[in-house]
Amino acid sequence: MRYDVAVIGAGPGGYVCAIRSAQLGLKTVCVDERMDEAGKAALGGTCLNVGCIPSKALLESSENYEKAREEFSSHGITFGEIGFDVGAMQARKKRIVDSHTSGIAFLFKKNKVDSMLGRARIEATGEFYRILVSGGQQIEAKHVVIATGSSPRQISAAPLGGRIVDSTGALSFQSVPDRLCIIGAGVIGLELGSVWRRLGSDVTILEAMPDFLPMADGKISKEALRLFRKNKDWSIRLGVEIISAESSAESVKVVSRDAKGESREEYDHLVVAAGRVPNSSGIFEGLGIDSRGFIEVDECCRTNLPRVYAIGDVVRGPMLAHKASEEGVMVAEIISGMKSGFDRDIVPSVIYTFPEIAWVGKTEEELKSAGIEYRAGQFPFTANGRAQAMGAAQGFVKMLGDAKTDRILGVHIIGPHASELVSEAVVAMAFSASSEDIASIIHAHPSLSEVMHEAALSVDGRAMHI
Ligand code: FAD
Ligand code: NAI
Repeated sequence: MRYDVAVIGAGPGGYVCAIRSAQLGLKTVCVDERMDEAGKAALGGTCLNVGCIPSKALLESSENYEKAREEFSSHGITFGEIGFDVGAMQARKKRIVDSHTSGIAFLFKKNKVDSMLGRARIEATGEFYRILVSGGQQIEAKHVVIATGSSPRQISAAPLGGRIVDSTGALSFQSVPDRLCIIGAGVIGLELGSVWRRLGSDVTILEAMPDFLPMADGKISKEALRLFRKNKDWSIRLGVEIISAESSAESVKVVSRDAKGESREEYDHLVVAAGRVPNSSGIFEGLGIDSRGFIEVDECCRTNLPRVYAIGDVVRGPMLAHKASEEGVMVAEIISGMKSGFDRDIVPSVIYTFPEIAWVGKTEEELKSAGIEYRAGQFPFTANGRAQAMGAAQGFVKMLGDAKTDRILGVHIIGPHASELVSEAVVAMAFSASSEDIASIIHAHPSLSEVMHEAALSVDGRAMHI
């Protein structure tokens, strides 16, 4: 069968690209090899099946349990004994995932995107690319979009197997491990560590780097580490080298070393959350691939092969679902002859811990090292009535504005609903707003958004409520 566009991979990059291509009148097929337990196509990639969505479902369940256990009595709400059922939480997670994956199948039908199950590779180039799909299927396509995503990075000192699992394994525990060790204090380590800590695990995170969350603004990472370390159920150790990890029927023995010397510890499970690697091999030999395994692309996601594009986790840039989707839309529009693009300087990042952490734009450290003069404003959630009423008055919003023009250069949040609050900053930055613009906009009272308002006022030294 001949197509205008063949998309390889049905994650948030690929499926969005396929739908947008079809909306623009291009005959489109999307191929993905992922299957569910019943052997049916499981569309949605890492994000929907074993990433963003299942992790947020379990974060929500575990947060509700922790609130019921620790906070409801302060509202005057009392229960008998509070318990939970991991099986029911996992079943709820599965229902949410299933409804999303079948939702994509519905959207493909509605938009007339053909969906094919199997592993794809480009076999021949020419005016039409010939793509072989496992199971003996064959496609011809004028344009190819590679959206094959990424996989967990493995480390030789802790080979997966038995009680040593990756993020997918840690999303599927059927009971709460008493002692859980996680390698990597990155986004996955902190989010999945939060899930099992809230449900009762003693969590130890072993991080190789001496700094905590080095990609975040320094003040935010410092506050996050302080707040996390206040909780006795988890220990976050920095500057740790993993020497070995050995899984047996009963436990995992982990040998590590830090500045204080060597440690030998035993855990019920070990999760390796040490980053992800791009799925770039085996697609086509002639593809340009960089030293870290990413498919090389230009600003418009064009590879070295004519009419072949690559998007999402398999190319440079943050490994985020919304970045993959934006690249998918951009590529579909470029293929159809439109001008398209998005501002890569304002991709928001969120870490769904409690409190949440979110940011957009430059950190203070980045501005300093680039020699850009700025003014900083900061406002705490403790001084906000809504946050107090919610019992979530931790953290702050920090805003960085250009010293001369006042244009907002970065916004960094640690606090309740940071994932939602950051959108105001993204919109403001997309319209090149100044901190004065936010300061002069009315914000509802009482709402968490007032903290953003006050942080903007504080850039000019005129916050009201502190
Ligand atoms: P993927 O989603 O990885 O999809 C690629 C698809 O291609 C896969 O289904 C794969 O089976 C298929 N494929 C690969 N090779 C072939 C081939 N040769 N032939 C056919 N099919 C192939 N990001 C966020 O923005 N927010 C979050 O909250 C978030 N949470 C996460 C939580 C976890 C636990 C994990 C692991 C990741 C999380 N991410 C999150 C990251 C997010 O999942 C990825 O950035 C996103 O899925 C990347 O999308 P993609 O389309 O590039 O690739
Ligand atoms: P990450 O890059 O965020 O963190 C990995 C951590 O492991 C780093 O701090 C690294 O220093 C550490 N590490 C690496 N090797 C190690 C070793 N041998 N010993 C000890 N520590 C080691 O990667 P993570 O957490 O695996 O997540 C992968 C990707 O998935 C991220 O890039 C992220 O963008 C995405 N993701 C996004 C989420 C979100 O947006 N909320 C949630 C989960 C994942």
